[in-house]
Amino acid sequence: MAEYHLQPIAQTNENVESLTPLSPSPEGWVTCVLADFDAFLQDHASAEKKASGMALSMVSHYPDQPALVQAMVDLAVEELNHYKEVMRLLMTRQISPAADRKDPYVTRLNKLVRKDAAFFLLDRLLVGAIVERRGAERFSLVADHVADPDLKKFYAAIAKSEDRHWHLFIQLARDLCSHLPVDSRFCELAELENTLVKELPLRAALH
Ligand SMILES: [Fe+2]
Ligand SMILES: [Fe+2]
Repeated sequence: MAEYHLQPIAQTNENVESLTPLSPSPEGWVTCVLADFDAFLQDHASAEKKASGMALSMVSHYPDQPALVQAMVDLAVEELNHYKEVMRLLMTRQISPAADRKDPYVTRLNKLVRKDAAFFLLDRLLVGAIVERRGAERFSLVADHVADPDLKKFYAAIAKSEDRHWHLFIQLARDLCSHLPVDSRFCELAELENTLVKELPLRAALH
């Protein structure tokens, strides 16, 4: 299989040691994914496409914030590259892409975003960080457990990329919202997310 050109976003040196740690995904999650890997790939493709769209929506919402615009344009391209690679995997396996469905995990997290303009950017960035952090953990689990060596390599590369993304969102939140309590809000959201992943039913899907 070809080398992956995922256009990685540069690693930031954010100190994340003091933030609420991620609780591990339920043990059965990766078993569920491996039991229907075709469905997982379909869902993964949708998730990458939505991630790209989310980054572009940030550009539309904050055209006056050049650092954010640049980061989100780069992110949108990188997520679209992930999408392209997952679509290639689907097509190689002759699996049709599935229609996009609402992701219950993302829906629940988005409800935590405060709509007040004073907090909206901070919460969107932090929810972004949280979703990326969970994605990095789960893709890494797939890389550890999938048998196919090409898929192993692919998911290890994707996990690294998503790991950089969550650091990027933390950096943007700290840089652009330094007048607000960024880290404590992250910890609040991260605790809710740790509970949420224990509650949601297991599916052959990213969430
Ligand atoms: Fe991605
Ligand atoms: Fe990402």
